[in-house]
Amino acid sequence: MHKKMLERVLSVRRAVSPRSDATSSVEFENDNDEATADADDDEKTKKQQHQQIRIATRTAANYLTRMGPFGLCLVFLSLALLSILSLYLFHSRSFVCVSSYDPVTRSGFFGLDGLESDFGSLGVPWCRSKHGKTVEWTSKDLIKGLEEFVPIYETRPIKNNMYGMGFDHSFGLWFIARWLKPDLMIESGAFKGHSTWVLRQAMPDTPIVSLSPRHPEKYLKKGPAYVDGNCTYFAGKDFVDFGSVDWGSVMKKHEITDLSRVLIFFDDHQNELKRIKQALKAGFQHLVFEDNYDTGTGDHYSVRQICDQFYIRGGGHSCFKDSDEARIRSKRRKFWQKAVDIEELCGPDEAWWGVRGYMRDDFNHSNQPISYADHFQNSRFLESILDVYWELPPVAGPSLTHQTRYDPARAPSPIVEDGRYRLFQRLGLTRLETSVFNGYTQMVYLHISEQES
Ligand SMILES: C[S@@+](CC[C@H](N)C(=O)[O-])C[C@H]1O[C@@H](n2cnc3c(N)ncnc32)[C@H](O)[C@@H]1O
Repeated sequence: MHKKMLERVLSVRRAVSPRSDATSSVEFENDNDEATADADDDEKTKKQQHQQIRIATRTAANYLTRMGPFGLCLVFLSLALLSILSLYLFHSRSFVCVSSYDPVTRSGFFGLDGLESDFGSLGVPWCRSKHGKTVEWTSKDLIKGLEEFVPIYETRPIKNNMYGMGFDHSFGLWFIARWLKPDLMIESGAFKGHSTWVLRQAMPDTPIVSLSPRHPEKYLKKGPAYVDGNCTYFAGKDFVDFGSVDWGSVMKKHEITDLSRVLIFFDDHQNELKRIKQALKAGFQHLVFEDNYDTGTGDHYSVRQICDQFYIRGGGHSCFKDSDEARIRSKRRKFWQKAVDIEELCGPDEAWWGVRGYMRDDFNHSNQPISYADHFQNSRFLESILDVYWELPPVAGPSLTHQTRYDPARAPSPIVEDGRYRLFQRLGLTRLETSVFNGYTQMVYLHISEQES
């Protein structure tokens, strides 16, 4: 089923990859090197044209001044003609350059797959924040961060982190922690300790509090795991759920007086609405959720699911079998393992919200049906406390990473877009095994604060 997509992606990749075909790569590449080369070429052409104009003007002026007023008229006429000619030359040159970077050409990269055009129908839902604020960092910062993070990631102690974080989310967590520079980092859901290690790489001297039913040291007996020396573990026999911790005394112990200096990372597969309410009650503001599952997928009610409402672009769904959405979903289901078609999306009575009208919790060990009215109220509540909502984009497009799981039509545009193989290579991403790019589930960063009265 997915083989077909992979073959198509691979065959396109072969056609554009500088490794296999240098000439055909030109059509798709828009990396900095080539952009600079084109800019240099433009500059040279312009200089030559200016020089030619100057020489021609000077010669004509010398000749024509000797011819009196009639000659001057001719000078003006010639200048006007030359300006029109040079304008035409500059524009036709830049038009050729721009057309090769045109996003329409890039979307053609996916041939009949119609990736870009399907965005309109499926779209990427987004949570509205109170005042429309967004994060400080830019895509340039993310690219710079990637360059730094790849060599760090290569030194990770747990090479095979199946059931834990892959590359995209490891980068996201590292980047956010390093940007915010918290005084304390709390994680809920440690598994073998990979995310603890990522937090430690971002902030070498900052204390960590880690909550997990099974202590990561237990895994050490069987293979690679990470136990941190500057971490307070509420794990094993000392395990306490995030919602039951006496955060006041933990903050006191760590001499934290400003809760806006604390970062919480959730990878515990619990209902995210429940976690947000608990974090808000404790006074925390900066939250990262690892698994921000799309509607119809996952084992817990997620922030993205909550914000999936009719009034959001890409939000609200149709369970009508003859709808455009049904047709597009069934097509995309064939290509992307995590994509869901209309039968999977919709439960009894056309309930599409959450997962088939259910609010899942605790690795889907618990689930409750939820009415659309309650689901709608949840989104209104979230919007009332949300200052910032930012979904981590996938690090690179699927033709580069060869991932076949998440549907790119339901994800933000990747940091390294398809076709930018040189950048992908320059960042060191070609050195990583393909499997590390398979775990993307829209990690999200939230800044929350109490409702204003
Ligand atoms: C997906 S794993 C975490 C992966 C880890 N963050 C990593 O990067 O490799 C989920 C973890 O959550 C733990 N867990 C289960 N219930 C929990 C709870 N109520 N609070 C905290 N952790 C929980 C599980 O035992 C498991 O270790």
